Amino acid sequence: MLELRLLCDNDISLVEAWLNKEHVKRWYEIPHLNITIDDWMSEIKQRGGEYRWLTHLIAVLQGRPIGLCQYYKCVDSDEDFGTLLLTGSYGIDYLIGEEAYLGKGLGKEMIALLVDKIFSFPDARRVTANIDKNNKASEKALLSCGFLLLDAERSRYVIQKANSVI
Ligand SMILES: CC(C)(COP(=O)(O)OP(=O)(O)OC[C@H]1O[C@@H](n2cnc3c(N)ncnc32)[C@H](O)[C@@H]1OP(=O)(O)O)[C@@H](O)C(=O)NCCC(=O)NCCS
Repeated sequence: MLELRLLCDNDISLVEAWLNKEHVKRWYEIPHLNITIDDWMSEIKQRGGEYRWLTHLIAVLQGRPIGLCQYYKCVDSDEDFGTLLLTGSYGIDYLIGEEAYLGKGLGKEMIALLVDKIFSFPDARRVTANIDKNNKASEKALLSCGFLLLDAERSRYVIQKANSVI
C-alpha cells in the first residue's frame, strides 16, 4: 500500500537524483517559464523558510521511497492560475522517481491520496494541476482520479470537493 509522509532532510539527495532523471527532468525543467531543477531543489531546501507555504511529501511503497509530491494554497503562489477561483484552491505537483515503478497505477494512487489529504482540510474546495500538454501519463492519471480539464490552453485540470461550488 502506498503511503505519503513528510519529506525530511535525509530524503533530499534521493529527491535530487529523481529530479535529474531524464523521465522527470523532461517535465520539471520548463524553459519557457525559466524553471530549472535547481529551482525545485531550492524550494525543497528552503521549505522551512521562504517556501514554508509548500508541503513536500514522499510516497513510500512497502518502506521504499518511490516518489515525491507537494501541495500548496494557490493564494500563496505567484503562478498564473487563469480563471481559477483562488480561495479554497490547492495546487499539486507529483512524480514517481524510480523508473521501475512507473506505469503500475502508483501515480494515480499517489494523486488520489494527495487529493484525499487536501480535501480533509476544512478550507479546501478544489485541487488543481497544471501540466505539459504532451505529458500523456500525467493527463491520464489526473483524468482517472476525477480531474476535469478547466483550461485547455493552459492545460489546467481541476477536481472539485463534493458539495462545493466552482
Ligand atoms: C505522471 C506520473 C506520476 C504517472 O504515474 P504512473 O504511475 O506512471 O502512471 P499510472 O500507472 O498511475 O497510469 C496513469 C494513467 O496513465 C497511463 N499511462 C501511464 N504511462 C503512460 C505513458 N507513458 N504514456 C501514456 N499513458 C500512460 C496509464 O495507462 C493510466 O491511464 P488509465 O488510468 O486511463 O488506464 C509518472 O509517469 C511520472 O512521475 N512521470 C514523470 C514525472 C511527471 O511527469 N510528473 C507530472 C508532471 S505534471
